[in-house]
Amino acid sequence: MNALEKFSLKGKTAIVTGATRGLGQGIAIGLAEAGADIVCVGRSDDSETRSKVEGLGRQYLNLRLDVGEESAPEQIVCKTVEHFGKLDILVNAAGITRRVMAIDIDRKDWQDVLDVNYFGALRLVKSVLPYMRKAGKGRMIFTSSGVGVTGFENISPYAASKGAIESLAKCLQIENEEYGITFHLFHPPLTNTKSASGISVPIEFKAEAKKVGYGLADRIWKKKFVICHSAIQTAQMKFSYRHPLFIGKMMTKATKRVVEVEKSEDLQ
Ligand SMILES: NC(=O)c1ccc[n+]([C@@H]2O[C@H](COP(=O)([O-])OP(=O)(O)OC[C@H]3O[C@@H](n4cnc5c(N)ncnc54)[C@H](OP(=O)(O)O)[C@@H]3O)[C@@H](O)[C@H]2O)c1
Repeated sequence: MNALEKFSLKGKTAIVTGATRGLGQGIAIGLAEAGADIVCVGRSDDSETRSKVEGLGRQYLNLRLDVGEESAPEQIVCKTVEHFGKLDILVNAAGITRRVMAIDIDRKDWQDVLDVNYFGALRLVKSVLPYMRKAGKGRMIFTSSGVGVTGFENISPYAASKGAIESLAKCLQIENEEYGITFHLFHPPLTNTKSASGISVPIEFKAEAKKVGYGLADRIWKKKFVICHSAIQTAQMKFSYRHPLFIGKMMTKATKRVVEVEKSEDLQ
């Protein structure tokens, strides 16, 4: 029996932000496979997510909203409870990035990234909390990133937003344990999605979004604070937490080397 069969999510309602594509979509479909009804939050076309979730026989609600907007969280919670009568799981997977050196980035770019990746998730958690506290249970997930732990060149607003989430999730866990609510970090590896398209490493080095998303959904009931889709990724994250700067520098150098090799091959 796999974890999905063991921890059936039948009858549970999961909100997944960023479920229109990429990792969020994989997570949403993985949760639906395990039995959960899905609320998909995003700004663009959700037809692929809808057809897969409904194809599995689950109920589905699309909320075409920008999580960076102040009014979005209240709408998400109200419409979810109105439609499903309950709310059990929140997965914050919506995210954006900017590829630029910290010294060159302007305030607006910092703000845009933080508004979605950090404040968007924080505001939604704040709106969900009273509901879950009343219910005396619930599970909330933040989607972090290795670079939020280790640092990486050319991506500081994104890395900083993920670093902030790492601390926020711990504080929320401490403050809400007595209410039966648990907080966790999903830690995907470098994955072949739109947000990672600016990272110039060959596609073979990027994981498949569906596989990672399903793997994370499969492990959503793990007791561990940090949840990864595979044993290898778990080991990599343990090493990253122990030696953050070493890994950050090594990954930056390795990525640059790959780019240089690709350039020299193009010239030949
Ligand atoms: N790919 C990787 O290598 C990697 C590694 C570690 C962590 N992550 C994290 O995984 C999460 C998913 O990223 P991804 O790689 O799957 O990227 P992606 O394919 O670009 O998907 C990003 C998702 O976020 C949604 N989104 C972005 N801005 C939004 C907004 N303002 N309001 C509502 N939804 C918004 C997008 O939907 P719309 O465009 O429809 O709004 C889309 O569904 C992110 O938090 C990312 O930081 C990714």
